[in-house]
Amino acid sequence: MKRFKVLLFVVANLCVSASIAQMYPADGNVGVPGEEMFQACGFCHGNQGQGRQRLDAPPIAGLQAWYVERQLNNFDNGVRGQHSEDLPGAQMDIISVMLRNEATVENVAAYVETLEPGGPRMTIGPPGQERPEPLERPFTWESEYASLDVPEPGNAERGGNLYNAVCLACHGATGLGLETLGAPNLTVLPGWYMERQMEYFRDGIRGADTRDSYGQQMAAFAQFLADDQAIADVVAYIETL
Ligand code: HEC
Ligand code: HEC
Repeated sequence: MKRFKVLLFVVANLCVSASIAQMYPADGNVGVPGEEMFQACGFCHGNQGQGRQRLDAPPIAGLQAWYVERQLNNFDNGVRGQHSEDLPGAQMDIISVMLRNEATVENVAAYVETLEPGGPRMTIGPPGQERPEPLERPFTWESEYASLDVPEPGNAERGGNLYNAVCLACHGATGLGLETLGAPNLTVLPGWYMERQMEYFRDGIRGADTRDSYGQQMAAFAQFLADDQAIADVVAYIETL
């Protein structure tokens, strides 16, 4: 019931802020132009793709088009965002079904890649008195995945040793990813999002579906992180890249 209420909250907000009509191209084979389609993404991911932490929506600006495309298809095919603990994924899942055809998916993914990472946090308040919006969720999400439970903040030095031993082979020494291995750029992602994804991979919430070959590879390596502290450490290191 709670899950339903949160989803209703998000969809209701979305309906007022995004012009849903643009999601439905008249001709089934013609794609909606990427920039136009992106207007429907901005409500959650920020108008410049800079992310909105309070809605659990990560920055997507600067993610590679091939990776964005794969994830949009993953959500649409029910490979990602289905687990009952994955409330953020369920929000994204609603949107992905609205991307009517492959051409639209390709267009919006290509557009997302062109966005400059690191845009300023979204603001609230009347014109002239804008201030950065709060980071706290506007709703309660009761789940162990809502935040990481660690005894101490991530230690980048320990994390660096882990990264070089386990992650470097696929994500590269600078964290930019390797398209040939399907491993995405991690440098544009914030710690709070990566921590949750690492827990998801470790616990079979993401990357468990047999159709998700890339996710399965990643999930296998998430098992090398012994506990939440190891996740915090490795993420602290990635944030220095
Ligand atoms: C209702 C809010 C909402 C809207 C609208 C939305 N998203 Fe998302 N999106 C999310 C959330 C929340 C996540 C994080 C899911 C998770 O944590 O697994 C996400 C995740 C993603 C991811 C995965 C990011 C990654 O690094 O793996 C991509 C790509 C993405 N969204 C693209 C889009 C695009 C393109 C649009 C517009 C067509 C869009 N989203 C619209 C909420 C939204
Ligand atoms: C065998 C290659 C491989 C190794 C080793 C690996 N990854 Fe990955 N990683 C991937 C692939 C492939 C994906 C994309 C999965 C998908 O498509 O959903 C991914 C996805 C991720 C994501 C999610 C990115 C996003 O935008 O949502 C994070 C975070 C991540 N990896 C961090 C790590 C860390 C930290 C390590 C080391 C502990 C690691 N990876 C080791 C291949 C790998």
